Amino acid sequence: MAPKNDPLAFIKSRESTLEFSERRVEGKDIDRVLEAGRWAPSPLNIQPWEFIVVEDKKRISEMMKTSFYGYLHNDPPLIIAIVIGDQYWQDDYMSGAQSGILGLLECYMAAGMAASNMTYGARLLGIDSCVITPDPSKSPFILGLPPRNFNPLFLCFGYARKSAKKRLRERKAIPEIVSFEQLGNRKR
Ligand SMILES: Cc1cc2nc3c(=O)[nH]c(=O)nc-3n(C[C@H](O)[C@H](O)[C@H](O)COP(=O)(O)O)c2cc1C
Repeated sequence: MAPKNDPLAFIKSRESTLEFSERRVEGKDIDRVLEAGRWAPSPLNIQPWEFIVVEDKKRISEMMKTSFYGYLHNDPPLIIAIVIGDQYWQDDYMSGAQSGILGLLECYMAAGMAASNMTYGARLLGIDSCVITPDPSKSPFILGLPPRNFNPLFLCFGYARKSAKKRLRERKAIPEIVSFEQLGNRKR
């Protein structure tokens, strides 16, 4: 595992796991991952999320089967589903801030921050992960969500199988994605 005192090496050591082993994530580690999610930033600190911890094999299998590209992965022993309640983005919940579609987008960004906290928090504990996009027409039924609640992400956790399949991991080069002062000005 990447040394924790080398932040960039640590960040790069988090990768999407395609094949999980049978090893379960211990309850005390699940609690620590949830704690990492709980401390994510959110607009006006509204914390628009609920986290659903799923360990039931049948439910996990259904969640993976119905997710986008879920078939690329085997079933993990643990999924934490992030849910956004409708009270956080409808009407004027965040009075003075965004409501409606912009409010919902802010909630989605907050969910992404929580996902990031949880996946990197897990990494610190030696736990592997993968972020998966649920099918919005199916996951609300699997998770028992009320109408107008959204489930932007499934976070899969577990331990990579020995010699698990890996994808080629690449990123765009810095000069392709960074501008200075205004978009497109590539010169520092
Ligand atoms: C918001 C989000 C949604 C994603 N959805 C899926 C998905 O539905 N299925 C999947 O296999 N991977 C999904 N991924 C994982 C990406 O494919 C993966 O992060 C990307 O290919 C980079 O690989 P790496 O995580 O190993 O660095 C998602 C990642 C993010 C951040």
